[in-house]
Amino acid sequence: MKYWRQEFGTIDGQTIWQHWLENSQGYQMAVIDYGATITNLVLPDQAGQFKNVVIGYDNLADYIKQDAYFGATVGRVAGRIAQGTFKLDDQTYHAPINNGVNTNHGGPNSFESQIWQATVTEKSDAISVSFALTSPDGANGFPGNLQVTTTYTLTETNDWLVDYAATTDKKTLFNPTCHVYLNLTGDFDQTVDNHQLLINSDYYGEIQPDGLPTGRLALVENTAFDLNHARPLADAFNSQAEQNQLVNGYDHPFLLTKKNANVDAQLTEPTSGRSITITTEGNAIVIYTANGFGSEPNLTNQPIKPHEAVAIEAQMMPDAIHHPDFGNIVLDVDQAYHRQTKYHLN
Ligand code: BGC
Repeated sequence: MKYWRQEFGTIDGQTIWQHWLENSQGYQMAVIDYGATITNLVLPDQAGQFKNVVIGYDNLADYIKQDAYFGATVGRVAGRIAQGTFKLDDQTYHAPINNGVNTNHGGPNSFESQIWQATVTEKSDAISVSFALTSPDGANGFPGNLQVTTTYTLTETNDWLVDYAATTDKKTLFNPTCHVYLNLTGDFDQTVDNHQLLINSDYYGEIQPDGLPTGRLALVENTAFDLNHARPLADAFNSQAEQNQLVNGYDHPFLLTKKNANVDAQLTEPTSGRSITITTEGNAIVIYTANGFGSEPNLTNQPIKPHEAVAIEAQMMPDAIHHPDFGNIVLDVDQAYHRQTKYHLN
């Protein structure tokens, strides 16, 4: 295993480092202190050609400009909270509205734009970068001083792990996610139409036109949301059915069945042969097929475009605080929160 770091830019007089992790087979991951963000994931295709497969920039200024959460740690609460309002122990809290009439991804200037403190742990079979952040009591309206760590690990067995840990001194909400956008061709002039996606899920969360879950869990059976067998993302882009739900692709949570301990989701790109298999301790995976891309700084010599990548966001169901059957995202005082998502790189 190898580790090195290089300067990535400065913000408020502070150096932002890019940390590189590499295993002996040449798989690489790079992460930066800004937003505890994954900037690069370098994987071989079936002919052994290595390419970066995550959307990201080679400079800090472009990360600051984009607002699509490229590679970032999202929190305190991933996805929308209806009207930004929630109740804990009979007290009502308001997070600032930043998405229509709702709060999305923890509100403005949240985890994705903070400077995190990195600690590196090197072992013979794995290297980890652990990013720590204190989110103060009242940050974006959320109660409690929250101590958070996001830990990225690359192993000799080609696993990439994301671990979240947190404690709070007041009861609060916590539901982070990793907002990495994948295009396994490694060629960002191409869309992800031909990527095959499998999700072990029998129900998806219906959404309103503004993206907020309605609270209804709908059966995937016989719909474009049935991904229990791998199918191309183009099916969802071109489907004439479920037009009251599809939003030029997916922007939906899928409730995981957990029927296979080794696979919650799997993304495969047949031409390159690259594939990522995901297992998570959360109850859901949100699929966002970059339907709204267009205003972000270019990655190539062409403007960035819809369907250029897919985000597979492992988390608890969005807006869970308003829907008891969506799972629990309340973090109690003295509770040691921990959640892991594993991405096996094939
Ligand atoms: C959300 C989308 C949003 C995107 C970028 C996704 O996680 O579900 O609705 O446009 O993030 O903010």
